[in-house]
Amino acid sequence: MTDSSQSPLRVFITGGTRGIGRAIALRFAREGAMVAVAARTSADLDAIVSEIEAAGGQGEACQTNMRDHGSVEAAVFRAVDFFEGATDVVVNCAGLVEFKPFDELGVDDWERALAVHLTGPFLVMAEVLPSLRESERAHVFNVGAHLAGQPGPGQSLMAASKAGVEGMTRGLRADLGPEGIRVTSVLPGFVDTPGLEPWKGSLDGAAVTTPDAVAEAVWNAYQAETAPDEISIC
Ligand SMILES: NC(=O)c1ccc[n+]([C@@H]2O[C@H](COP(=O)([O-])OP(=O)(O)OC[C@H]3O[C@@H](n4cnc5c(N)ncnc54)[C@H](OP(=O)(O)O)[C@@H]3O)[C@@H](O)[C@H]2O)c1
Repeated sequence: MTDSSQSPLRVFITGGTRGIGRAIALRFAREGAMVAVAARTSADLDAIVSEIEAAGGQGEACQTNMRDHGSVEAAVFRAVDFFEGATDVVVNCAGLVEFKPFDELGVDDWERALAVHLTGPFLVMAEVLPSLRESERAHVFNVGAHLAGQPGPGQSLMAASKAGVEGMTRGLRADLGPEGIRVTSVLPGFVDTPGLEPWKGSLDGAAVTTPDAVAEAVWNAYQAETAPDEISIC
């Protein structure tokens, strides 16, 4: 076990270049954390590493495509190397925002959502677990979606893939909780991000929150003496 109270927090976050993930990366950076960010676009990775460092943290770019097993393995390997061993926080955030009526969905849409939202976090967890077990205060945050519990029209793709994330999160908590690894489900409502941008005109006046509000809720959950099973931010 590594004594995490004496060293910066070591945070691995997928989808940390834009929107919700970027806000969470910068929230931990402001606490002086080492933040390893995984996403596909190298220019965005360079930009977030600079922002993390400007915010007071240390950043590392781990280019990956969540749909590719080998590249997820390589990204986790790079992050753990950067941390020199233990990982304290994992945030599975990479994903998409897509609304389409069920009868307009193609099998490509379906497979992409399941791959990025569900298989990706599975691969991350499988790779990062030995390093999480080295931390004295390990915490996993899986980003689901509030709408998964009660989807509206056009939301079956998001709801099905994010309900899967919720099931995985509960299962992880059951398996890892007894060994002291905290697991929290993050359930955002609509959040004003680049991902939501194309859909903003179709929200029928629904409330839209900020990425910073989600990031603050994640930070508060990390600090809490008893980790919440889920945090809902609407
Ligand atoms: N915004 C909302 O209203 C809302 C509501 C509920 C849940 N969520 C969930 O919250 C998470 C973040 O959403 P957001 O709105 O912040 O999205 P966003 O602004 O589109 O950002 C998505 C992030 O995920 C990365 N990403 C996407 N596909 C990837 C892939 N195949 N491999 C690796 N990285 C990938 C993107 O980087 P690259 O494109 O460079 O790879 C980017 O960093 C998602 O899981 C989303 O489903 C969002």
